[in-house]
Amino acid sequence: MVAFSNEIKVAMEHFGELLQEQLKRVEDLKASPGWIDYRSLDKIIIGVCGGDGIGPYISEHARRVLEVLLADDISTGRIEIRTIDGLTIENRIREMKAIPDDVLAELKRCHVILKGPTTTPKKGDPWPNIESANVAMRRYLDLFANVRPVRIPEKDIDWVFFRENTEGSYALGNKGVDVTDDLAVDFCVATTQGSERIIQLAFEHARRTGMGKVSVVTKANVIKATDGKFLHVAEEVAKEYPDVEWDDWFIDIMTAKLLDPYRAKDFKVMVLPNLYGDILTDEAAQIQGGVGTAGSANIGMRYAMFEAIHGSAPRMVKEGRAQYADPSSMIKAAAMLLDHIGYTEEARRLDMALEICCQFERRLKVTGRADGATGADFASYVLDTVSDPELETRWSRFKKR
Ligand code: IPM
Ligand code: MG
Repeated sequence: MVAFSNEIKVAMEHFGELLQEQLKRVEDLKASPGWIDYRSLDKIIIGVCGGDGIGPYISEHARRVLEVLLADDISTGRIEIRTIDGLTIENRIREMKAIPDDVLAELKRCHVILKGPTTTPKKGDPWPNIESANVAMRRYLDLFANVRPVRIPEKDIDWVFFRENTEGSYALGNKGVDVTDDLAVDFCVATTQGSERIIQLAFEHARRTGMGKVSVVTKANVIKATDGKFLHVAEEVAKEYPDVEWDDWFIDIMTAKLLDPYRAKDFKVMVLPNLYGDILTDEAAQIQGGVGTAGSANIGMRYAMFEAIHGSAPRMVKEGRAQYADPSSMIKAAAMLLDHIGYTEEARRLDMALEICCQFERRLKVTGRADGATGADFASYVLDTVSDPELETRWSRFKKR
């Protein structure tokens, strides 16, 4: 019998509790009620959370775009756009909660959420090191699929990342242990059910859109238990999709190959565990033109949340530049929201307008500084473009180049 030190006993007890929680999660996953059908609802409530830093600015612009595109259904009451205040770092610190209870209750009364970036504290920051509001929201609302598209038409790049959003190194990100002063341990989680649902969604997407190919990204040669499970589940799921081609890649070489012009265009749908997805999608967004250009959908069976993929840029606010923040990522998120709740034509038009404004025509450039356009002017440019009767022709003219 090994005699464990008190420190080890404490850590073991902690680990035991975590395992119990995760096993309970597995049971919940098995009992999942299935997908909500927005089309069958009389009313869809869209909650808008401003967040921190530049968040309130850019989410306001995205909200304006939604209000224009959904004007008819807002006037009949089929759509309600509701402001949800209170998801600010000051409130979260006051309550010492990643999401204050009243805010969470309000979020749960919505169907979908448009969320501005929120500050994520880390050790040494001026505030206590509480959990990220993003990560908590993904967990509380079980938003298991983080879908992040990146398109660069002139390079023939059309990627969609399906990042697992509730497991991996994030599941217990704030529950690691400092066993002693010198030893810290974090935990990484993969469940069969959690891996299956994200991988299935990726294969479904590849099939439904005709993209036809899925790349599974792990580091299963080294991280053998969790990544090994993810890859094994992918092998099983792939058998149900004989019409979809698939391959598997390790995350390190994948970060290199996204930059390889010969290889990059061959990637289509990519599915990957949480942390790798976090990293790879920032790289992909940068290739597209910067993290300010990419939108992010956090999809669950009951709720969905749409956001920019970048942070709250407090420095821009401190330096008085918030009005110059680029709202394209939030507007892209709004397009994904529209598509998700069944307004596919509006979403398609908005996507076209964004491509024209951000990539093809670029009549206004947002630089984040006074030498560029303001976010409000840029949003007006997108709105003028989306309402242009010649939108389609304008878009295909650029497309053909
Ligand atoms: C993202 C962000 C978040 C994450 C942060 C803000 C917690 O980087 O959405 O990619 O790591 O998931
Ligand atoms: Mg990230």
